[in-house]
Amino acid sequence: MYGKILYRGRIVEVGIEIEGERIKKIGKSVKGRKVRGLILPAAIDVHVHFRDLREKHKETIESGSLSAIHGGVCLVVDQPNCNPAITDSEVYEERMRRAKKKLYCDYALNFALTEKNREKIEEEVKKVSKKYFVPAIGEVFLQHSQGLQVSYNTLFSLKADMITVHAEDAELVKCNSIPNFDCRPEEAEVKAVEMCIKGLKKCHFCHISTVKALDVICKAKKDFTKEVTPHHMLLSVKDYERLGSFVNVNPPLRSEPLLKYLDFFEIIASDHAPHTPEEKKEGLPGFPGVETMYPIIVSLIKEGVIGLKAIDKLTSNPARIFGFDKFGYGEIEEGMLANFAVFDFSKECRISSRNLHSLCGWTPYEGYKAIFPSEVWLRGENVLPDVKAGRVLGRVLEI
Ligand code: DOR
Ligand code: ZN
Repeated sequence: MYGKILYRGRIVEVGIEIEGERIKKIGKSVKGRKVRGLILPAAIDVHVHFRDLREKHKETIESGSLSAIHGGVCLVVDQPNCNPAITDSEVYEERMRRAKKKLYCDYALNFALTEKNREKIEEEVKKVSKKYFVPAIGEVFLQHSQGLQVSYNTLFSLKADMITVHAEDAELVKCNSIPNFDCRPEEAEVKAVEMCIKGLKKCHFCHISTVKALDVICKAKKDFTKEVTPHHMLLSVKDYERLGSFVNVNPPLRSEPLLKYLDFFEIIASDHAPHTPEEKKEGLPGFPGVETMYPIIVSLIKEGVIGLKAIDKLTSNPARIFGFDKFGYGEIEEGMLANFAVFDFSKECRISSRNLHSLCGWTPYEGYKAIFPSEVWLRGENVLPDVKAGRVLGRVLEI
């Protein structure tokens, strides 16, 4: 293939020669089919909730990964607060077996920390790590209504290379009504972030939603990283008018969207958390987003709202921070996996839930501008035609 490529931070017109799953050569001398649009590295979404097993009515690993690949995401990290939660090696193995059955993108799974598994978690993670690449312990919940809440002490006693934290202080979270931004105050996030910075040497903060917490993390001298979601970048409490009873998400929407602070975040992740419309009306927190994340970002780039640097936050940064780079994910470079998404800037459209692939059937971005990828390449193959024909090419990340 030949075309405009984001290569080492610049757009250049070159050819890409692929051999098997990987990029063999990049250069002017490489010829091939001329690709229409901009060839970008496929995204890595380090924060999705693909449900399945006892929650198949919301989403399955099959439908979630189908949604991901249509959004230009080649690799997802599933979170362990599914049902059953990923608290021991048997449940981990069971979920990986399920994933292997029908997967449209590549897949990795985090391990849950609870008060109950604290004593044996390191041993259990060690067991599964013989076979699978476990990106992190987490998201660790400091506030949770269904058995996954852990105390600061439990979290601080953990020995792990990577911990991802859902930073909301349990005592400051007062209720779960609609809208939840009234009862999950900004201070809950700020306090939890401050505590983690004191108690841990290093962690990754999931979905930061407040400028104050961002400021605290930026000032910390230690090795902390942070992600922002498209909804905390773009939506605010004002969207309650539009979203009505669907507005709840944890952490909640705030008065100030974080788009103008994007440069301070290393990672953009979706926190894809599907619930059915009936469940949303009951106030269950969470927004779907794995399919709309990259298309919205590309549209914002086209419109000149953000720069090309934002692409790194979906690709090379998550690869480096979580260690997916050593498997070949995250960059268009010789020797790396041939994982691309091609975006034709003339194909900007409006998002409609009818065209999305998540089982949950709704989106908070109805009517938003987006550019969906016209081609998605996964490990050397242009997979959207295969996907449409029902061929499944995703893999779980094994050691
Ligand atoms: O809104 C959310 N939904 N935030 C979370 O932290 C969990 C997620 C879910 O699993 O539904
Ligand atoms: Zn989450």
